[in-house]
Amino acid sequence: MKTKKIKVVYSELKIKKAVNSLAKKINNDYSKKRVAKPIVVISVLKGAFMFTSDLIKRIEHPLQIEFVRISSYGSKEVSSGKIDAPMLTLPDLTGRDILIIEDIIDSGRTIGFLKEYIATQYKPKSLKVACLLNKDERREVNVKADYVGFNVGNYFLVGYGLDTAEKFRHLPFLGVEL
Ligand code: IMP
Ligand code: MG
Repeated sequence: MKTKKIKVVYSELKIKKAVNSLAKKINNDYSKKRVAKPIVVISVLKGAFMFTSDLIKRIEHPLQIEFVRISSYGSKEVSSGKIDAPMLTLPDLTGRDILIIEDIIDSGRTIGFLKEYIATQYKPKSLKVACLLNKDERREVNVKADYVGFNVGNYFLVGYGLDTAEKFRHLPFLGVEL
């Protein structure tokens, strides 16, 4: 199998700096709030696994980590328009402070769906979203992240958890296929 070349867009160092600055903001915001129980971090698999791992290591508050697997994508680079939720089982999170961690917000369907689902199911005390990448110009559902690593244009990134047809998730940087 031939491996295509990837051009680096965000290096490991750039990502590290962005993650550190997001963690700083999160630490600051949550220390101003009265968080009685650990913050519940919900990581959206598969794409957010690397970002989640790096970000939570820098969060200086007690936290509980949960995972869901959900997306609005098939294996193509365009949104299928439908939500696929093969793993959406969570414990009772009623009244908790919840922070969703997502790799990228594109059409906004995935986060839009998940936010509404969590808000309805658990009536959380607070519900925020941290995403590494945000594509404003592709938005179809009106959702905004509270914490954004990089605002990007309309191109398809791979690496650092993100894939195209399940390839390139393991790369330590973010880039585009050449
Ligand atoms: P949305 O529901 O359209 O916002 O799509 C979000 C999901 O689409 C993300 O969790 C990614 O899995 C996928 N996605 C969107 N843009 C990209 C990209 O540039 N690279 C890799 N995956 C992407
Ligand atoms: Mg994803």
